[in-house]
Amino acid sequence: MRKPLVAGNWKMNKTVEQATSLVQEMLPGLKKINEVERVICPPFTSLVTLSVALAGSGVGLGAQTMHWEASGAFTGEVAPQMVKEFCQYVIIGHSERRQYFAETDETVNKKVKAALAIGLTPIVCVGESLAQYEAGETKALVNHQISEGFKGIEASDATKIVVAYEPIWAIGTGKAATSEGANAVLRDAIRPAMAQLWGKSTAEGIRILYGGSVNAANAAEYFHQSDIDGALVGGASLKVADFTAIVEAARP
Ligand code: 13P
Repeated sequence: MRKPLVAGNWKMNKTVEQATSLVQEMLPGLKKINEVERVICPPFTSLVTLSVALAGSGVGLGAQTMHWEASGAFTGEVAPQMVKEFCQYVIIGHSERRQYFAETDETVNKKVKAALAIGLTPIVCVGESLAQYEAGETKALVNHQISEGFKGIEASDATKIVVAYEPIWAIGTGKAATSEGANAVLRDAIRPAMAQLWGKSTAEGIRILYGGSVNAANAAEYFHQSDIDGALVGGASLKVADFTAIVEAARP
């Protein structure tokens, strides 16, 4: 019912030249796996070139963030319309944006609304810090991130949203959450929080990804879980064989 989705978040890696050759290497393998929605999110500087390289391949392109305003005096920012020229997706509220660039549930909310209004699929990140995890606050925290981040969004728009659960302590650390543990957060906190906003059947139709040290060896475990519909992959998305194997593992 929910089509699996695997997105690669390249973060601040790869020049245009490096990005182009990485995509050329990945594309033959990725092209064939149509049963999985595949997305690459490179830095802004590579979006123009990669939009040409990916055209007609079935592999989607996403930005790693954007501003919510349409235009104006926001030095260094990129507007929804500018992202939409090249992309189908945009990552919103990644924990690194929240941590280093002062993003909040309130800015996430504005960005999600702006993405939906312009027809971009938002991949919205939630997840707890190590201290919050150890204090047993995970479920309350993600519940809050969902209810605040999605405030005022209609049920008719909600199914266009993709959520990514990324525990901060699992990002780039090699300490992935267990598949059962991650699934429990999705099943018992994230989906119920969305059901509160939009009703149970709408919440059942929304895709939720896991992210945090996903690799070629552990990916399948996550995808076998009831509520995990794919992955948001950092480090391993920069390696051709690993990323292709992760996408392959997501085949229904
Ligand atoms: P890693 O896969 O490198 O842990 O990064 C996860 C992530 O932050 C994806 O957005």
